[in-house]
Amino acid sequence: MSTDTDADADDESTSNCGASSTSETDASSGSKCGGASSSDDSSSKCGASTSSSSSSGSSCGASSSDDSSNEQEVGATVDDFDAEPGQLIAVGLGPGHPEGMTERAKNALLEADHLVGYTTYIELIPDEITEQADDIYDTPMCGEVSRTEESIDRALAGNDVAIVGSGDPNVYALAGLALEILESKGATASMVDFEVVPGVPAAQSCGARLGAPLVNDTVSVSLSDHLVPMPEIESRLHAVASENFTITIYNPWSRKRRENFQKCCEILLAHRDPDTPVGIVHGAGREDEQVMITELGELEELGEHEIIDMTTTIVVGTEDTYVWDDRMVTPRGYETKYDY
Ligand SMILES: C[S@@+](CC[C@H](N)C(=O)[O-])C[C@H]1O[C@@H](n2cnc3c(N)ncnc32)[C@H](O)[C@@H]1O
Repeated sequence: MSTDTDADADDESTSNCGASSTSETDASSGSKCGGASSSDDSSSKCGASTSSSSSSGSSCGASSSDDSSNEQEVGATVDDFDAEPGQLIAVGLGPGHPEGMTERAKNALLEADHLVGYTTYIELIPDEITEQADDIYDTPMCGEVSRTEESIDRALAGNDVAIVGSGDPNVYALAGLALEILESKGATASMVDFEVVPGVPAAQSCGARLGAPLVNDTVSVSLSDHLVPMPEIESRLHAVASENFTITIYNPWSRKRRENFQKCCEILLAHRDPDTPVGIVHGAGREDEQVMITELGELEELGEHEIIDMTTTIVVGTEDTYVWDDRMVTPRGYETKYDY
């Protein structure tokens, strides 16, 4: 089984949560930001918040709701910065290969002074872009709150900053968190000229590999209970599965929550026939991409198969979805109006 490798605002991990790290470019001395509240923490170039150092081991992976991650507070506020703020852009990288990035995303990254992101995502960025950056700040899985705050502090300190994530910044990702933290710092989105540069979300990258399963009404559900409690996820799954939507399942599996995947399969089977087509795509657009089309009745067993892990998206067809020539097809409804 592969290890969990894909993380963002909605993710969890098994070990190295919250410990912030900086890339080799951080070895250069002195602050890149000039925030008046710069801490002594050498891992931050920019008014690093108390949360970035205190989140270790608590910001994800634990399922209990009274986890101390709830107590994280923002460090520097807008009043701690004297500089004219720079720009903050949340950039979606798409599925993972350079050809899957939009021109707009590439240009936004080229224009940014600082790149901030989960280490795996930073590694997906082409070298010709990372080499142009003045500084790169990357954290391992689960540092999403500290690195988002770091990106904001760097922008408030006068740098043009891009915070990157896989797929699209609006899909289980950091765009919302950035706005929430900006607000909690007493700043505004306009102050840092906040912008979201969209990327191709995993559902669409994976749908493309499977044929045409998403052409009618489609709903996404994430099985990560790091931020949403499992009973709530179960209730959402019941609601969605009871209607005739295609369902895309994000964050389907990890070692720590096998039960969530099993429960999900049970709920889907309570509403859909066992022969409902299901597409499984692991690592769309990445070197280890795998694609499988199967049936809902077989899905639970595949939970222990390496194709399903934290870099997998599962597409559950509707009552009308069928498989033709190894492709999933969800009719849009043209056949009810036209002869062809
Ligand atoms: C925290 S979410 C981030 C989603 C991302 N913002 C997007 O728009 O696709 C992480 C989940 O996205 C899905 N995912 C991300 N990249 C993927 C890829 N290349 N292939 C398949 N699924 C992927 C997986 O379900 C993974 O657990």
